[in-house]
Amino acid sequence: MKIMVIQGPNINMLGSREPATYGTMSMEDIHKQMKIVADQSGVDIEFFQSNFEGEIVDKIQECLGEADGIIINPAAYSHTSIAIRDALSAISLPTIEVHISNVYRREEFRQKSLISPVSNGVIVGFGPVGYHLAMVGMLQMFEQIKAIKASQEQNA
Ligand code: DQA
Repeated sequence: MKIMVIQGPNINMLGSREPATYGTMSMEDIHKQMKIVADQSGVDIEFFQSNFEGEIVDKIQECLGEADGIIINPAAYSHTSIAIRDALSAISLPTIEVHISNVYRREEFRQKSLISPVSNGVIVGFGPVGYHLAMVGMLQMFEQIKAIKASQEQNA
């Protein structure tokens, strides 16, 4: 099983970017912690960050046949990108959307995500630990998928 982690624009600036809102952990440190959990759980994990919408769409399309689940913080594109939403709908993999900050107590333009309706779960406002919570959620989804497959095989 493999998890693809996709980070949108400006997430590469975590640590120095508005620390009161996004915390002081760098993206690399967040990824290191996620990798530890993935290794402990015996799943593969890949990390991708881009400031370009089309590159994120390309990466999502590449996940088809390559990954079993997506953890994505589309950042500002959450609020604008029909293209990223359509790409996620097209490949239809288990998807968890993460927002470090609580977008619901920020500006009104952040309070609508085009990505949430095509995500299985959304984690909002827990700071960088939200990525860890997403890992726990994704691993749980993998267990459920395995259990469903096993019971289908038994009944076949
Ligand atoms: C964000 C929230 C977005 O509104 C913002 O544009 C970001 C980060 C978050 O993780 O809290 O870049 O996705």
